[in-house]
Amino acid sequence: MTTKKGRILTGDRPTGKMHLGHYVGSLANRIRLQSTYDCFFIVADLHTLTTKPEREHIAQLGQNVRDCVLDYLSVGIDPDQSTIFLQSGVPETYELNLIFENLVTVARLERIPSLKDMARAADLEESMPFGLLGYPVLQAADILLPRAHLVPVGKDNESHVEVTREIARRFNYLYGEVFPIPDVLVGDIPTLVGTDGQAKMSKSLGNTIFLSDSAEEVTQKVRGMYTDPNRIRADIPGRVEGNPVFIYHDAFNPNLDEVNDLKERYLLGKVGDVEVKKKLSAAINNFLEPFRERRARYEAQPGLIEDVLIAGTERARAEAHKTMDAVREAMGMYRLPVRTI
Ligand code: TRP
Repeated sequence: MTTKKGRILTGDRPTGKMHLGHYVGSLANRIRLQSTYDCFFIVADLHTLTTKPEREHIAQLGQNVRDCVLDYLSVGIDPDQSTIFLQSGVPETYELNLIFENLVTVARLERIPSLKDMARAADLEESMPFGLLGYPVLQAADILLPRAHLVPVGKDNESHVEVTREIARRFNYLYGEVFPIPDVLVGDIPTLVGTDGQAKMSKSLGNTIFLSDSAEEVTQKVRGMYTDPNRIRADIPGRVEGNPVFIYHDAFNPNLDEVNDLKERYLLGKVGDVEVKKKLSAAINNFLEPFRERRARYEAQPGLIEDVLIAGTERARAEAHKTMDAVREAMGMYRLPVRTI
């Protein structure tokens, strides 16, 4: 542990199966860095309450948490190396969240565009819950409880990490150096367009390719992908730039010669969409195949996901406990004397 470059904390809300957008935005960086950093991966169940507090949504959390951990394991996050844990299993999160709520202004939080987007998507624009406004503050508590140095996230979370940095600076200024100022790390493809070519890949828009999709599902989704709408025949020159099929080729097809050849012929009107898409689904399926194998292996071990979460949550709690001691000490919080009777 002591030989590692520092700590990473990042994670996801357990809202369902993860997709290719999650992979290029954040998962790829996690896998790349997990042997050089001491990694904490949080399954942020409490954050789902900010937009979905209803019982029916809470009832799905168990399944969603397990799906999320299985996605992590299947892409190659190694539970022997990294700490995977459940946010609500670390009660210190609530405690640090309350302290941090006093170190940021309402006006600052109201300026964060991604919060407005989230409120709009959840139909909460006119009735922003206090907790949703506080979403980035809760995220700051997640990041700073293990005193992380680096936060690999998708582009949409960049502004939240900026709030974490401000809160850490403010805390250190008021009370003394307890927290590192964590850096953000955004993936190579900060936002991946969906298969509809219209908006970023997102489960609620139905334009996703899931990491757990079968080969047939991938082939079918790729076949239906949006390409260049002006190209009604294969002999019409097409547009490569901004075309989702080529964005995906660039992201998931390691065969550069094949990709360049397809692009060249596409620009000249010398290749049909069918061939471009066939080669794309083959590339994506090649890319997903090792994930499928690992998933099947993990799925065959009953109780494994819970074991991983229990061990990870225990470790995260131990770190959180140390940090909270340092926090209360730095703040000089009044503590009742301990009496023995
Ligand atoms: N906000 C992240 C999301 O969009 C989830 C999350 C919660 C998170 N706490 C975090 C990400 C801490 C990075 C660090 O789903």
